Amino acid sequence: MKILVTGKGGREHALLTALSESPGNHELLAWPGSDAIASLARRVEASDLESLINLMKAEGVDLCVAGEEAWLVKDEGLANMCAEAGIPCWGPRKESAQLEASKVFAKEFLKRHGIPTADFSVHDDAASVLAVLSDFPAVLKFDGLAAGKGVAVCPNREEAEEFVHDVMTKRIFGPGRLLLEKCLTGPEISIFAAVCDDRYHILMPARDYKRIRDNDQGPNTGGMGAVASMDLADAATLQQIEENIVKPTVAGLQKDGLRYRGFLYFGLMLTPTGPQVIEYNCRFGDPEAEAVMPMVEGDFAAYCMAGARGELDPQLIQFKPGWSVCVILASAGYPASSRSGDVISGLEKVSRSRVYHCGTRKNASGMFETNGGRVLAVVSQADTRDAARDAAYESVKHVTFDGMQNRSDIARLHFT
Ligand code: AMP
Ligand code: GLY
Repeated sequence: MKILVTGKGGREHALLTALSESPGNHELLAWPGSDAIASLARRVEASDLESLINLMKAEGVDLCVAGEEAWLVKDEGLANMCAEAGIPCWGPRKESAQLEASKVFAKEFLKRHGIPTADFSVHDDAASVLAVLSDFPAVLKFDGLAAGKGVAVCPNREEAEEFVHDVMTKRIFGPGRLLLEKCLTGPEISIFAAVCDDRYHILMPARDYKRIRDNDQGPNTGGMGAVASMDLADAATLQQIEENIVKPTVAGLQKDGLRYRGFLYFGLMLTPTGPQVIEYNCRFGDPEAEAVMPMVEGDFAAYCMAGARGELDPQLIQFKPGWSVCVILASAGYPASSRSGDVISGLEKVSRSRVYHCGTRKNASGMFETNGGRVLAVVSQADTRDAARDAAYESVKHVTFDGMQNRSDIARLHFT
């Protein structure tokens, strides 16, 4: 098969690695890909979605796998345009991807289908939010693209007013509504399902570590590491998640006529009254993909193809027992900014871990250097969480670049 993956980060590097390790001789393409991805897949150039679709048609691409989310809702939508061109796509249509693109859309979907989520109200202006702000911490969410900065958990009125003022008066993220949500408490877990029309297959659960510093301190990032295992949550919790959240979500998509074929990511909080949905993402998580993909056995390429054709077949893949731990190495200044051009050394010394490239490029002398906030994902597997963590951190010791930042406690905090 000829398979094209959209995206360029660590998640796409992990997805492409899993595709390259699938049985059969597949030809892999990446758009836009990265210098590291180029060792697995041929990078193709396209200026926009329309030219990408034309290129896929000309190349005779058999399957398009959506990595990053942006293209799902751009123009007519990647999956919609693939459908039009007769190319199977593992990734949902634009109308369904609103579950990630619009927080109001997602909350209304959750409410309509009776899926547990925090109570909320939607506001068009600052005055209407300020009038109902009474409980703290208050959770405020901008309903639009905000580069991951659109959510604030405000401990007091002063901070909430400042956020409301920035978003609704200064319009720092541009026009858009604001959601006020009840604050939930409990550990967070990322649940992934492959959704194919009215069927689903729940994959290995993971947890990501969003804050920049140890002990979950400091600002939120795209994710500083992840841990994945079938044993991450107990069977009763997983059962509850399937019954109360995954099943009604898939039934809700069907009921609303929202066609969905692709990975669906449920960001959940395990509250004292049961699991609740914090957010949906219409793609695999990053860095969760880097932790989960090395645990996949079987035929991942055939699995994605079958799903894209509407013939989801859970038997095509299995998950290894044990634990997988991913540690992210980030560049100087992250997450407020990032620094590019710092030369990375020691990659050749890593033997016990996989290294996926999140934000790197090759310099003129062929050395990898930093090229973004999250730079590398160092991932190890072992029978126990402690052994997987030790192996990942042993590998991290070999890798250096100026300004490198990483957490030292990934997978150390007890989950439950
Ligand atoms: P989101 O972008 O919606 O995933 O929110 C980012 C982060 O904010 C989540 O991972 C949670 O840690 C936190 N958060 C979001 N909604 C709530 C809520 N209702 N209660 C408590 N924390 C929340
Ligand atoms: N790990 C969080 C995300 O992929 O959005």
